[in-house]
Amino acid sequence: MTFQVLVTRRVYPEAITYLKGHAQVDYNPGDDTLAPAQLIERARGKQAIVAQLVDKFTSQTIAELDPGVRVISNVAVGYDNIDVAAATARGILATNTPGVLTDTTADFTFALLMAAARRIVEAHKFVESGKWNEWSIDMLAGQDLHHRTLGIVGMGRIGLAVAKRAQGFAMRVLYHDAVPLPPQLERELRAEPADKARLLRESDFVSLHVPLSLATRHLIGEPELRMMKPTAVIVNTSRGPVVDEAALARALRANWIAGAGLDVFEREPGVDPALLACPNAVLAPHIGSASVETRKKMSMLACENAVAALEGRRPPDLINPAAWQRVASAPKA
Ligand code: DGY
Repeated sequence: MTFQVLVTRRVYPEAITYLKGHAQVDYNPGDDTLAPAQLIERARGKQAIVAQLVDKFTSQTIAELDPGVRVISNVAVGYDNIDVAAATARGILATNTPGVLTDTTADFTFALLMAAARRIVEAHKFVESGKWNEWSIDMLAGQDLHHRTLGIVGMGRIGLAVAKRAQGFAMRVLYHDAVPLPPQLERELRAEPADKARLLRESDFVSLHVPLSLATRHLIGEPELRMMKPTAVIVNTSRGPVVDEAALARALRANWIAGAGLDVFEREPGVDPALLACPNAVLAPHIGSASVETRKKMSMLACENAVAALEGRRPPDLINPAAWQRVASAPKA
């Protein structure tokens, strides 16, 4: 059987070349997002879909997918765009791209942290606008990173990579996660577990690294922002809805906190105008994993996961093992 694969939008070309060695590829080479009806239509006759975080696989869309679809392979580590329970119920495998983007995203987290703490974007705009007429002692004075406390909410792969980078700045780390780090690693990283309230009260910088779920939606809202230090900076490279954006804009405007570095937003690609109006917010268009090398690796890994599923192998980055159980135990035709 010749497998049929839908690639919903542009990926790096080497991934398409690889896929073409294993399947016939229906490639949407643009950056336009397929509406649910288009997604369902284009998926007809396909066994695999290589998708991206903007493709919404709601339970309704999944219910209408061609019954032949075996796998939805996301080119992202986050998979809140897929209703995994609905996919599992239909025996559709779902995969993501963990690991390859960990260091790149941690690097970018630090870039945002430094940019917000040291007011680099404000400084750039200041110079660019020609307002720099003379030097002054407190001109664009920001916050030091070194020897300060970094609070990490979500100590998974990326949180841990951020904690490792913090050692280069001699920072103390507080972290909040259901799973504690091994004691040896805690010692090496000068990391201490803390409940959310303590982390928010004691940290000079707070960085968010949790997946988006019902439990983490608006994890940071007005009560949490009011707990933070007035000199604190918050960074979000996880998912926009983890932060209540309207509350954050109020916090930045009223100086409950000093700044924010945001790579993700509640309604991407839209950004709350109240946030756009905050000079102390550094904003980026969801590019945490966007180095050329990493985006190539993500493209390739997603296609490898899809091919594994098509060939009847368990995909290396399977999100829903329960679906695999169903597939593996189904009687062979
Ligand atoms: C991810 O992988 O989930 C990022 O948000 C996009 O690269």
